[in-house]
Amino acid sequence: MSNTLGMAAQLAGQSLRFGWYFALHRLVDARTDQLGKGRRYRPERPVPSLRELLADLGQLLISDAMAVRDGIFPPMEDEAAAPLQHLFRVRRMFADLPDAVGRRASKDASTVKAEAAAADVPDYYAQDFHFQTGGYLTEESAELYDVQVETLFLGAAAPMRRTLLRPIAEFVHGRDQRQLTLLDVACGTGRFLRQVRLAYPAMVLKGLDLSRPYLEEARRHMRGLRPAELIEAAAEKMPLADASVDVVTSIFLYHELPPDVRRQVTAEIARVLKPGGLFVLLDSLQMGDKPGWDGLIEAFPHRFHEPYYRHYAVDDLDEMFSAAGLAPRSASTPFLSKLMVRTKV
Ligand SMILES: C[S@@+](CC[C@H](N)C(=O)[O-])C[C@H]1O[C@@H](n2cnc3c(N)ncnc32)[C@H](O)[C@@H]1O
Repeated sequence: MSNTLGMAAQLAGQSLRFGWYFALHRLVDARTDQLGKGRRYRPERPVPSLRELLADLGQLLISDAMAVRDGIFPPMEDEAAAPLQHLFRVRRMFADLPDAVGRRASKDASTVKAEAAAADVPDYYAQDFHFQTGGYLTEESAELYDVQVETLFLGAAAPMRRTLLRPIAEFVHGRDQRQLTLLDVACGTGRFLRQVRLAYPAMVLKGLDLSRPYLEEARRHMRGLRPAELIEAAAEKMPLADASVDVVTSIFLYHELPPDVRRQVTAEIARVLKPGGLFVLLDSLQMGDKPGWDGLIEAFPHRFHEPYYRHYAVDDLDEMFSAAGLAPRSASTPFLSKLMVRTKV
């Protein structure tokens, strides 16, 4: 009974959360159209109707709630836990819009170059991804990132990330979590690491990212829980020993990497994983995954600075992972994302 109540509470919370982000999404769209004087890219490929989108999103939320009911992973925490901070960040997101829309019009993705840390990161990284002010290298960007991403995805970023918890639960089943190490590659602001920590209080957790401010935000976000080790480093050169990690996860990283770096990162993941270890990737849908949605993939790099996305959208990830010794276990397409589960042979 309590599990069913947990499921109902989870669904109710998720529905409210969706309503909030749906409203923010519409407001941001309207303001962007106003600032951009109505110029908006119209894709040639098909796009889903709002009804199709919402039906798919509904399935994602129901599947998450059912996993909570079945005790596979704990309920989701949400922004209601820190409402004032959230509202403050929403206000700053709107305040930042005119600058971001202006830079989009002039195709300027260079504010990050003003940061001293830009000299220490690879060139492909020193850009304002999504036209984010300060790229990934400022505290302001780290504080706004999550509200921006959730607004874009209608509140589904966290539920999409949580789809990784199911294959992780299957892997952990029957093992002693205290003996397991999980590494989240490009952990960003630590939203997924916190979900993992809530599910596995004793597991050894590591998060790796190139952005110091994002790692600082991750550290703040883990507050009150057993910390994760946070490592400032490039995913293509991880300061970790061979065969030292049981589970590697990576979320929304691959579409931001140049093709050759995508392959280097894959080789690094295969290197640090133990034989039999688990790799779970979540990233954007690719062309043809849901053919009726291809227009969304076509439009995305017109709206956001995503220099490597077009290549990612048609890259043969399956072949790339197999070549690196990461054999397929399963694949699915939750809402706007693609979930690939692989095993290190
Ligand atoms: C779109 S964000 C995704 C963050 C997080 N995984 C999430 O679920 O929101 C991309 C992240 O990848 C990081 N990143 C990009 N290239 C990287 C690289 N070569 N090595 C390490 N981190 C990188 C960025 O700093 C940023 O935090």
